[in-house]
Amino acid sequence: MRLKDKVVLVTGGNSGIGRGIVGCAVGEGARVVIAGRDPEKGADTLDEIRRAGGEAEFFAGDLSREPDARALVEQACERFGRLDVVVNNAGAGSRRCGVEAADGPGTRLRKLMGPNLEAAYCVSAYAMPALKAAGGGAIVNISSTATFHGNWGSYGVAKAGVEALTRAQAAEGAPHGIRANAVSPGWIKTGATQGTGAKEDWEATASLLGRMGVPEEIGRAVIFLASDEASFVTGATLIVDGGLTVTDYPSLPFLEAVGAWKLFPGLLDGNQDEPSGPQ
Ligand SMILES: NC(=O)c1ccc[n+]([C@@H]2O[C@H](COP(=O)([O-])OP(=O)(O)OC[C@H]3O[C@@H](n4cnc5c(N)ncnc54)[C@H](OP(=O)(O)O)[C@@H]3O)[C@@H](O)[C@H]2O)c1
Repeated sequence: MRLKDKVVLVTGGNSGIGRGIVGCAVGEGARVVIAGRDPEKGADTLDEIRRAGGEAEFFAGDLSREPDARALVEQACERFGRLDVVVNNAGAGSRRCGVEAADGPGTRLRKLMGPNLEAAYCVSAYAMPALKAAGGGAIVNISSTATFHGNWGSYGVAKAGVEALTRAQAAEGAPHGIRANAVSPGWIKTGATQGTGAKEDWEATASLLGRMGVPEEIGRAVIFLASDEASFVTGATLIVDGGLTVTDYPSLPFLEAVGAWKLFPGLLDGNQDEPSGPQ
């Protein structure tokens, strides 16, 4: 039990990846505070956790609003008397980031910065005193591999901010025993990503492993970073994407069709010690 009796706050813990993180945290012995806007989904999540013997509370609020972020942290501390781990998972993304007449560029930017970056900034800032009072703790922010891919526009911009925020929190928190890290998921199967592919079989191309990830696979990475197992890890971003970002993707169908060795004719022929690569 790597989080036994720790109080863990998970924003957006009432669905998708957040729900996976909550499940893993409860499995590691944590008491969990969940935040989201939808109280119905919150109640369903609480039901599931309590039926399994876990301890959890749900607080509703729009975390892109600073007063809601502050109230959430206050409610969490009041309910459990302490706070050990903050997971900033709440967020929303879109590939439709271009400017449209009905929706000016500033509006569109703020729609993405609010839930993704400002929520993580404000929740963490209000949580810092409680983490310090607990004698140290951990912050884990959920970023996205959209930081690498320009086709995600302002969503990637907001998530790049989340990674910069993580490093700032690591520097600020270190003297107080607070570690801050980020997890950067690739394609993960949630309600948000359902039906987003152009073709039915697109999921096979969502990673090098031929599938999308599942929320628990992000949950396990978060638990590692939140626990003492990661006691010397701070300011880092752990990419959990099944190899999506390490690949020159357009090459894959070619490699599959002709075999990698044909890329550099002669390279693997004859004496392996003296490769005859391109001149
Ligand atoms: N799925 C992926 O492939 C993927 C990949 C990379 C990164 N991510 C990131 O992972 C996180 C979770 O994504 P997901 O796929 O699990 O999406 P999801 O199922 O739509 O869950 C998003 C969660 O965030 C909460 N939320 C959104 N805006 C909020 C706000 N303003 N205030 C409070 N809560 C808010 C939602 O709660 P309510 O519904 O109650 O508002 C919901 O619980 C996000 O940060 C996302 O950017 C996802």
